[in-house]
Amino acid sequence: MITGMRTDYCGRLSRADIGRNVTVCGWVSRRREHGEHLAFVDLRDRTGIVQCVVDHAHDLRSEYVLAVTGTVRERPADTANPDLATGEIEIGDATVEVLSRSEPPPFQIDGRSDVDEMLRIRHRYLDLRNPRMHSNLVKRARVNAAIRRSMEAAEFIEVETPTLVASTPEGARDFVVPSRLHQGRFYALPQSPQLFKQLAMVGGIDRYYQIARCLRDEDLRADRQFEFTQLDLEMSFATGAEVRAVISTAVAEAVEEITGVRPAAMPEITWHEAIDRYGSDKPDLRFGLELVELSDLFTETGFNAFKAPAVRGLRVPSGGDISRNAVDDLTKQCRRWGAKGLVWMRVSAGESPLDGARSAAGGRLAVTSPVAKFMSDAEIDGVLERLGAEPGDMCYLVADTWRRASGVLGLLRLELGRPPVNEGGLHFLWVVDFPLFDDVNADGLPAPAHHPFTMPHTDDLETVAAASTRMAAGGGFDADTLLEVRSQAYDLVLNGWELGSGSVRIHRGDIQQQIFDLLGIEPAAAQERFGFLLDAFRFGAPPHAGFAFGIDRLAALLCGEENIREVIAFPKSQSGADPLTNAPSPISDVQLDELGLAIVAGDGDGELKHSAGDGELKHSVNDEEDES
Ligand code: AMO
Ligand code: AMP
Repeated sequence: MITGMRTDYCGRLSRADIGRNVTVCGWVSRRREHGEHLAFVDLRDRTGIVQCVVDHAHDLRSEYVLAVTGTVRERPADTANPDLATGEIEIGDATVEVLSRSEPPPFQIDGRSDVDEMLRIRHRYLDLRNPRMHSNLVKRARVNAAIRRSMEAAEFIEVETPTLVASTPEGARDFVVPSRLHQGRFYALPQSPQLFKQLAMVGGIDRYYQIARCLRDEDLRADRQFEFTQLDLEMSFATGAEVRAVISTAVAEAVEEITGVRPAAMPEITWHEAIDRYGSDKPDLRFGLELVELSDLFTETGFNAFKAPAVRGLRVPSGGDISRNAVDDLTKQCRRWGAKGLVWMRVSAGESPLDGARSAAGGRLAVTSPVAKFMSDAEIDGVLERLGAEPGDMCYLVADTWRRASGVLGLLRLELGRPPVNEGGLHFLWVVDFPLFDDVNADGLPAPAHHPFTMPHTDDLETVAAASTRMAAGGGFDADTLLEVRSQAYDLVLNGWELGSGSVRIHRGDIQQQIFDLLGIEPAAAQERFGFLLDAFRFGAPPHAGFAFGIDRLAALLCGEENIREVIAFPKSQSGADPLTNAPSPISDVQLDELGLAIVAGDGDGELKHSAGDGELKHSVNDEEDES
């Protein structure tokens, strides 16, 4: 689509254009002198780069904006550049019009690998000229377009929900906006359109979707920003499985749009199985290293550390060459993750046992471990057999509750096996039947794993009813029973990232009341926080279910990026500030007056602190639980 000042885009010229007189517009990427009279200028636009041979007289510098007119010709064979799409041609006898000059840029745009990220964000308009950044944004736009096509084809109705709202219940801190007309009152920015999309179901919209901007004041990480974008949807008279099918299709179409290959059917496992096999509710299926249950081998053990509810293990094939220091570091890491310790067993062949090794498996294997002396032969042989250990392997064992032992080994599994973000293909996984409650909170009450409108699993409805009756009668609750209750909540996982979450919602007042009772939400508090939703539900609420997934995360993984900042045009830095616009910034006394506000603390006039962060996903066992 050519308009205005040019006849062609730089990167789209090819041999087919040889002989044509063309005009291209763009930025000077590179300039090289050639003899006394000529210079080569690599001109860059959104499509790529083309070499122009121009009269040396021009004073052309990096990032000057030019219109170049000349004839497309074949390059002499020995000067062709196979790395460049336009490498076989050039624009010869070119005349140049300088449209705009540039100061020397603060960093080199086409080779940015070693450029400090803060500098890139501070000058994002320059960084966006980098082909990798440009390509990421183009891919993201194509992901959005593919998702829209998919939702439209399935007859979803795009509904825009408000940005100035009352607090929404996703469990993060709200960003708030002071009201001028109602001084002393605040809007919250939406953490998600959750409540509105449920109201839309009561309103008969039937199938809602939105590419929605969400805002949450939470700690930033590689996969988290304050502002992010969801594909948000909700369906009436639909089951969770039907919602998952719609999402699977939309995601598959987005993936196909970018990779050209439609992903395989997305497998489904229960939350319990995910924790049991991978020690995570967002398993990375690009590699094996599954966890193994060993508890029954230690029911009578004399080893104090293993007198725990569960003993679980992990075998790293050929992992035995790890150094003693590295193992000590892993042990410390596991302690930081919440383990009481880490047992390791280095496995070698029985005939040539290492110094201090203990013979095992009838002499076929030998084991080196600082705690081997505390274990019986039967225990050691049992572990080796259960783990399928072979010479050269390393085995790791953790004893604790099933959840904690699994969680720690799950993190160890990632530490030892996780491939780089752009390797190993795309492995999607649905995790279903999440627990309804996550834990017991500081007030001794059960904490919801998702939001409080999540429908309990059909098979567990009676348990919920009984528990709430008991709670209402002042009988307290039995944590063990409640933590076993499953919900109809599900997540979509891609390569170990939580891509999205959703659930079947509670549309029945009686069940909602039971949940509020169990969560200790008093009727007055429920009315104050979600009264409008509860009111709406009194006027004919259809059964409904929904889902939302993070487009930033999907786009990042499809671009092979390990930080979502790389697929966001104007991201915040790790410290939550914007080094480009200097937000957040102080406001004037006049504005404060109008809003009825006074600053009582803070450093409004001081320097903003910026840091890009280390770009790595950080894990702790708690991370597994904090993304409700
Ligand atoms: P949830 O809170 O799990 O569910 O969010 C859904 C998805 O949104 C993305 N996401 C984020 N992406 C970047 N930065 C963040 N700070 C961030 N927080 C969340 C993730 C996440 O999986 N209303 C419910 C959905 C529903 O029940 O329908 C919700 O928002 O990819
Ligand atoms: P300790 O008894 O704490 O000195 O630990 C002895 C060894 O057992 C050390 O190597 C610890 O790392 C390990 N260990 C202790 N407790 C556990 C546990 N719960 N699970 C796995 N290993 C443990």
